[in-house]
This record gives sequence, C-alpha cells and structure tokens, in this order.
Amino acid sequence: MSLKKPIKVVGVSSGKGGVGKTTVSVNIAAALAKQGLDVLLLDGDLGLANVQLALGAAGEYNFSHVLSGEKTLDDVVINTNSGVDLVPGASGLKDLASLSEKETGSVIQAFSSLTKQYDIFLIDTAAGISNSVVSLLGACQHRIIVLKDDPSSIADAYATIKVLFLEGITQDIYLLPNEVSGMDHGDQLFNNLNKVIVKFLGFEASYAGFVRKDDVIPLAWKKAMPIVSCLPNSQSAREFRNLANFVNNLPSDVDNNNGGLQFFFNQLHSPRRSA
Ligand SMILES: Nc1ncnc2c1ncn2[C@@H]1O[C@H](COP(=O)(O)OP(=O)(O)OP(=O)(O)O)[C@@H](O)[C@H]1O
Ligand SMILES: [Mg+2]
Repeated sequence: MSLKKPIKVVGVSSGKGGVGKTTVSVNIAAALAKQGLDVLLLDGDLGLANVQLALGAAGEYNFSHVLSGEKTLDDVVINTNSGVDLVPGASGLKDLASLSEKETGSVIQAFSSLTKQYDIFLIDTAAGISNSVVSLLGACQHRIIVLKDDPSSIADAYATIKVLFLEGITQDIYLLPNEVSGMDHGDQLFNNLNKVIVKFLGFEASYAGFVRKDDVIPLAWKKAMPIVSCLPNSQSAREFRNLANFVNNLPSDVDNNNGGLQFFFNQLHSPRRSA
C-alpha cells in the first residue's frame, strides 16, 4: 500500500502571450499555499524565468538539470517566501513531450522521489499553441485557459481549445476571463466564447471565475511578490483566493502510487489522436 497522497495536476494556458497566465498561476499557487496546501509550481515559460521574478526567487538550477540527470528535483526546487515551491523553467521543458520511455521513467522517478509530497502541481505553460504546450495541457487533469476581452486573445483561447478538441480532449477545460471590469463582464466573455465552443466543437467549457483589471497587479510584479501576499485585502487578492478555492475544489480522482504525476506522464506519452 502506498502512503503517497494524490496530487492534482492543473495547467494554465492562454494561446496568446501576455494575458495573465503567470499572474494567475503565481497568485493561485500562493493563495493555496496560504491555505496550508503543499503546492509545486512549474514554470513553463522557456528561458524568461518570469515566474521567478513574480515570486522574488532566484535559483541556480532549473528543470534542464533534472532532465540531464545532473541534479535531483530536490536540488532544483526553490522554496519561495510565499510558501510556493517552484521548479524554474528551462529550454529543456520543450522536450518534455518528446522524451524516450527511459527518460520519461527518470522524470517520473525524479518527481516521485521528491522528499515533500504535494497536493497540487500547477504548470504555467508558455504562450502559443505549440505541440509541447498542447501535450503538457492534454496531460494535465485540469486545464485553465486565461483570456482577455480582445479579439486576438479570444481567438487564441478558442484555437487552444480547438487543438485540445482535435486531440480528443473536451473535459476539464475552464475559462478564466482576466482584466475584466467586473462580474458581468467576466460572465459575458465566458458565455460568448462558450457559445462558439458549443456551436463549432459540440461541447461546453466550464467557468473558473474572473479577475478584474487592477492597477495594483503590475505594482505587485514590481515588488516581486504575489498580490495575495503583498496586498491581501485588495479586490484582486480576493478574486485570486476565489480562484484558489475553485482549484482546491476540483476533483482529484487519481490515487495510484505516484498520484496524478504518474497519470500526467502516462497521458503525456500516450499516442495522440491525429487531427
Ligand atoms: N488583472 C490584471 N490587472 C492589471 N494588470 C494585469 C492583470 N493581469 C495581468 N496584468 C499585467 O499584464 C502583464 C502580463 O501578465 P503576465 O506576465 O501574467 O502574462 P502571461 O500570460 O504570463 O505572459 P507571457 O505570455 O509573456 O508568459 C503583467 O505586466 C501584469 O502585471
Ligand atoms: Mg507568463
């Protein structure tokens, strides 16, 4: 019998760059950590290391050192001030979807032999809809798609969801309108895109919740702290806590030996349906 607890694997994506993936990932992660959950955040932004910036953390090593076998995940993980454990990203991440079976085995081993057991594994994916982003998202148990109310963000969010659909993935996709003016605007953005998904793809996405446009968010970036830590009483901190509750309440139905991570890597390497 394994004593490992199940882990929930959640991917955050958007298609278009700069719409708030990292802001959302970092703040959900920090809000969950404040609730006492053990959260591991993987930075999927290749080379930019901007999750480190958002959390005020600096690490000597990154995920590429794990892939090359030079370091263990324990060596690479940064325990940040906000309570979130961070795996800094690296260009090696783009190869995660094309590892050999043996390499996949070592990565699973690397995650399984982490000293700490995590409740939530959150992945802030890179912008765009490259194969590796789609593979990473497809392998997650849950997928959050961040979008803004501008035509290119909506089009790219739809394009991401369409590629997932073509891969046979229509479950556990949640839309998160960011930089909206309020609840009605968030609902409207969700409903408008969801109608298109229903009409052209024949399934429904779900609603994760919204984040208002808030001038304190860029300020928190400057302070290199999540807003839930530096301005916990702000409007957006409340919204991020709502989103964290949403993530916390998502089902985690995988309880095999390696928890959701085994599931995650199996999915990552299962044959993909051709479009
Ligand atoms: N709700 C918001 N209100 C105001 N500003 C915001 C909000 N969300 C994000 N921003 C600002 O938008 C900018 C881009 O955000 P962020 O870096 O999180 O986007 P991203 O999708 O991760 O970008 P990339 O594709 O480059 O990784 C940041 O300067 C951030 O401060
Ligand atoms: Mg980012």
